Amino acid sequence: MRSVGASESIHRYALEHANPLDDAVAEWLNATSRERFGRAAGMNIGVDQGRFLKTIVAIAQADTVVEVGTFTGMSAMWLARGLSDGGRLICFELVDTYAEVAREAWARAGVDDRIEMRFGPAADGLAELPDTRHVDVAFIDADKTGYQTYLDLLLPRMKPTGVILVDNVLWSGRIIDESDDSPDTLALRAFNDAVAGRDDCEAVMLAIGDGVTMIRPT
Ligand SMILES: C[S@@+](CC[C@H](N)C(=O)[O-])C[C@H]1O[C@@H](n2cnc3c(N)ncnc32)[C@H](O)[C@@H]1O
Repeated sequence: MRSVGASESIHRYALEHANPLDDAVAEWLNATSRERFGRAAGMNIGVDQGRFLKTIVAIAQADTVVEVGTFTGMSAMWLARGLSDGGRLICFELVDTYAEVAREAWARAGVDDRIEMRFGPAADGLAELPDTRHVDVAFIDADKTGYQTYLDLLLPRMKPTGVILVDNVLWSGRIIDESDDSPDTLALRAFNDAVAGRDDCEAVMLAIGDGVTMIRPT
């Protein structure tokens, strides 16, 4: 998807000056998600954001990565591609409906052995993670009304050098449309405001994809 706020020509220029965008597994996964789940396939992140996630995981030399909200596994595939040898990705997803497609994609990408799926409400799953600072990278992309809870559960579990990436923080521009008071928009606005006011982390918002906030514990 075009980064929020970027013109078509600037977006195209940025894409053309990064690694190539063609990725056979991502194309298969987009097509299969559309075929099986229709418009919901729009929830898959784009290749540009995927490469960004992979790069962050690789820079972090991550052993432990956590994803909150997996759908058919697109972002998980990119996160897993950045893992070091022996590294693992734990994916929290509410339902198992999408898992068959996700597992097929991960096998095609050669990363299935690094990914563990845990089904059920992510808040319960995150609360069961060890209460120590062991997570290198986390990606939050599930129900928007749960973002605050996910951040609160993840922050104390992040390594001091760890980073949390939060998706959809610009919400296709609706975040600044005051006439939009849908529950998800209000939840994202409240989340963004709360992040900006916290003194236990440092945050920077990037206009990549639908907006991504990078948060590190301080
Ligand atoms: C935007 S999609 C994830 C897309 C995926 N990260 C990607 O880019 O390929 C959001 C996912 O969060 C899941 N979800 C919604 N509420 C959840 C909850 N309470 N706990 C865990 N997952 C949840 C949905 O089932 C859906 O698959």
